[in-house]
Amino acid sequence: MAIQKIGIVGAGLMGSGIAQTAAQAGLDVWLSDAAQEFLDRGLGRIHGAWGMLQTKGRLTEEQVAQNKARLHPTLALEEYADCDIVIEVIIEQKEPKLALFRQMDGILRPDALLVSNTSSLPITEMAAVTGRRDKVAGLHFFNPVPVMKLVEIVRTVETSDATVETLRAFSATLGKTPIIAKDTAGFVVNFLLIPYLLSAIRMYEHGTATMEDIDTAMQLGTSYPMGPFTLADYVGLDTTLYAAEVIYAENPDPAYAPPALLRRMVTLGRLGRKSGQGFYDYRETK
Ligand code: CAA
Repeated sequence: MAIQKIGIVGAGLMGSGIAQTAAQAGLDVWLSDAAQEFLDRGLGRIHGAWGMLQTKGRLTEEQVAQNKARLHPTLALEEYADCDIVIEVIIEQKEPKLALFRQMDGILRPDALLVSNTSSLPITEMAAVTGRRDKVAGLHFFNPVPVMKLVEIVRTVETSDATVETLRAFSATLGKTPIIAKDTAGFVVNFLLIPYLLSAIRMYEHGTATMEDIDTAMQLGTSYPMGPFTLADYVGLDTTLYAAEVIYAENPDPAYAPPALLRRMVTLGRLGRKSGQGFYDYRETK
């Protein structure tokens, strides 16, 4: 099945990034969120990015107008009935995701795919509440979506080969390179990335080096675009903690045990860039 019409539920940072990328790739995109203000914020982000790309000469005024025409904001999920695929990008909590999967299973055509962008929750549990288990998979994008080239396709024991092949082709249409992972906590990237971030926090707790020096070491010593503290702030400390907890629960290796400092930062609401303060302070640059 060639995917032409896509529905995205959740207009946050990831959902709006996927919507932007898909509209730029020439697809018809329906985008929704739980309330108009969240949807407006997502649309503002997308229009801002297109304005930036136009200023840089990467998109013409006509291309921006075409992209906007392909993007359909709505609060009514019934409008998704004719979508070829729906991508769930809502809050990283199990119950709301399961409720949405049940709801969308009732709205969508029987041949439509239903995928989740979750970074840590089991895809299998979402598949289990639908009547289309072979058409459910993970499709995990990376932040910032329009820039990051990877997408993880996550298959459960019941995801069909045809679904995986459709998702491979869809990823290519979006300009992404897919990899295939089994439905295990952390998939590939977070299984490797999370212990790295947690180790950096432990090093700092132990006083091995300052945060700034650990960041500089990894940026200049390994050519990573960001050091671990800058990256953790960028990903979100709540997201980092949650991913660590989920992977640790399935795989109780001390490398995944969240350090006390990370928990305390999250308790204090220091969630990284998005809250204005994480390991670093972003309030002035905001
Ligand atoms: N749409 C299109 N292009 C965009 C864009 C958008 N929304 N946002 C940024 N860009 C483009 C810019 O136009 C710029 O393009 P040019 O260089 O061609 O002009 C380019 O992206 C780089 O942007 P900036 O110059 O603003 O910033 P930068 O060079 O410092 O790069 C960065 C920023 C891409 C974020 C880089 O620092 C980076 O790659 N960091 C690591 C990010 C990372 O590892 N993400 C994965 C996190 S893990 C995750 O997401 C998974 C999970 O489950 C937790």
